[in-house]
Amino acid sequence: MIYHIPWIYTPVRTVLAIWHQLTKTEIPELAKCSVLMRERSRVEETIYAMQRAGAGSLQVISDFDMTLTRFAHNGKRVATTHNILDNRLLINEDCTKKMRELLNIYYPIEIDASRSVEEKLPLMVEWWTKVHELLIQQKIRKDLLAQAVRESSTMLRDGYKVFFDGLAEHQVPLLIFSAGVGDVLEEVIRQNHVFHPNVHIISNYMDFDHTGVLRAFKGQLIHTFNKREGALSHAAGLRELQGRPNVLLLGDSLGDLTMADGVSEPQNVLTIGFLNDQVEERKETYINSFDIVLVKDETMDVPNAIFRYITSSRDNK
Ligand code: TMP
Ligand code: MG
Repeated sequence: MIYHIPWIYTPVRTVLAIWHQLTKTEIPELAKCSVLMRERSRVEETIYAMQRAGAGSLQVISDFDMTLTRFAHNGKRVATTHNILDNRLLINEDCTKKMRELLNIYYPIEIDASRSVEEKLPLMVEWWTKVHELLIQQKIRKDLLAQAVRESSTMLRDGYKVFFDGLAEHQVPLLIFSAGVGDVLEEVIRQNHVFHPNVHIISNYMDFDHTGVLRAFKGQLIHTFNKREGALSHAAGLRELQGRPNVLLLGDSLGDLTMADGVSEPQNVLTIGFLNDQVEERKETYINSFDIVLVKDETMDVPNAIFRYITSSRDNK
């Protein structure tokens, strides 16, 4: 009865809506114990603002290795794009040995919580440069890459199809920003049937000669800690990303946080960090750096739930 009086109806409706928002867990996935947040209220406000703005204002920027791909499966590490090349079809035993030695030296440095980014930077350049030189010496054949991907242990995270298909369906651009090998990355998503037209990739691409043999890597080298430069020089110029000031950023390395630095006039940026390895040592830094930290979560459940909420009808809220 009282609802029929407009000057009472409107404030009551507003209060009810706020109450509803405060009490109801809108995204139950955020309540999982593997989800850590420094400031839950800021996360929720950002998600609500993104939902109000709608899918047309959103872009998703994601790292690839160990972010869109799993870290491990059945207790075994899953191959990164570089490690997919570790196949006798493409490289010899000696090269495998050398690449593994380099991985054992430099990967612990990459994830070492006690070293600064400044300290890691030249060492990452050293690692990538040495690996790329080794790969070039192997005269890798372009036509064998697809078979190497098929034979590898690589796996996208559980729920990847919902993620890629959902973004495509809502025409939200997905920028995959990877320090891995672009040609291999493309083949992984192609073989998983999710290389949709809304996907854009910035990565290290191989340069093949006219016979299809690897002779160099194209352009400026991308490693884990120089993504900011790539963001400013490449991502900023991508027409498909213009006019989308809301960003959902996914990564597994602190270096991934700079992937959105090319976005002009960002409004709402929500960063999600997968903490796969060295959990106790890095937990605090990750919580202080990403808005949401997912601890040893091999799924896309949380990004999918957030995206589902953002694209849900505003009338139902
Ligand atoms: P990302 O930017 O897509 O995550 O790719 C970078 C990852 O690749 C980084 O975390 C380390 C990994 N990597 C290897 O696994 N093997 C290698 O030889 C190199 C150079 C990098
Ligand atoms: Mg990564």
